[in-house]
Amino acid sequence: MSDEKVIAVVGATGAQGGGLARAILADPEGGFAVRALTRNPDSDAARELAAAGAEVVRADLDDVESLKRAFRGAYGAYCVTNYWEHFSPEKELAQAANLAEAAAAEGLDHVIWSTLEDTREWVPLDDDRMPTLMEEYKVPHFDAKGAANHFFTDAGAPTTFLLTSFYWDNFIHFGSGPQRRPDGTLALVMCMGDAKLPSIAVEDIGRCAYGIFRRGDEYIGETVGIAGGHPTGAEMAEALTEALGEEVVYDDVPPEVYRALGFPGADDLGNMFQFKRDFNDYYCGVRDLAESRELNPELQTLDAWLGKNADRIPIE
Ligand SMILES: NC(=O)c1ccc[n+]([C@@H]2O[C@H](COP(=O)([O-])OP(=O)(O)OC[C@H]3O[C@@H](n4cnc5c(N)ncnc54)[C@H](OP(=O)(O)O)[C@@H]3O)[C@@H](O)[C@H]2O)c1
Repeated sequence: MSDEKVIAVVGATGAQGGGLARAILADPEGGFAVRALTRNPDSDAARELAAAGAEVVRADLDDVESLKRAFRGAYGAYCVTNYWEHFSPEKELAQAANLAEAAAAEGLDHVIWSTLEDTREWVPLDDDRMPTLMEEYKVPHFDAKGAANHFFTDAGAPTTFLLTSFYWDNFIHFGSGPQRRPDGTLALVMCMGDAKLPSIAVEDIGRCAYGIFRRGDEYIGETVGIAGGHPTGAEMAEALTEALGEEVVYDDVPPEVYRALGFPGADDLGNMFQFKRDFNDYYCGVRDLAESRELNPELQTLDAWLGKNADRIPIE
């Protein structure tokens, strides 16, 4: 029987969990094995993981019993929820509670909870510098993750709280890349002023998580933030200009303009960028580049990521 430690990876068919699954599979001597959780073991992504050596099991974050089965006998679990699939903080809270309950029930040795700040600790609901959204939140997709942290501690699950960062992959997949303006120029539209944006290649989130698992219990009970760089909006526009071979200007709009851009979640993201801008020293300080690199020596810079991915950024 193999003595490899099994890591149950939620979101293995997606970006964060996929990065972790690939990091473990790329290190066959590392002592860990991947159990990939998915709602659909027949998907192309799930089949690819199976072909690469992962055990693939069906599980649903909405079904705590399926999570218990999927966690059974595992050493650890990477836990992530996908807010953007449903836009419901309440659903995200319920899914996190299920993860914590299952992790504790199955006696896992190490859980990594992919979390973010509950921004209401910095900007209470009655603080009108930014609007309250959905009646109870400032940055719904952050707040629910942070508010869910206690489920893991309350359940007694040995947990590392991983503060992730904005993905550079959002330039490709999330509509956050340079936009062609009516005058024909390309603009990177954000509302960060001169503040720095801790950000990362999403593949590196999984690699950092692997680094955390490899260190045993060192990070259990701790909060660790990761980033591959802390570029300003102007620096990102400069890097994009270089990589795309066409000038990209940084269009620093006021947060209220960003919130009104009209795409789904624009108000949430406008508040998010404003939070990162207004609490920039805290936000950058907790996402230390040197520690991220220690966890993941392959950590990419923005320039390195652009060198490999610039041609995938959709430009019209
Ligand atoms: N974009 C950013 O810059 C950024 C930065 C920090 C944090 N985040 C957070 O990252 C999260 C998304 O992670 P991602 O980018 O890795 O997502 P992704 O690439 O869209 O993949 C989503 C993954 O979640 C799994 N999943 C979703 N609902 C599930 C359910 N009910 N049961 C089981 N599995 C489920 C999917 O698995 P199957 O479909 O195979 O079941 C899939 O593997 C969001 O909550 C977002 O707020 C994003």
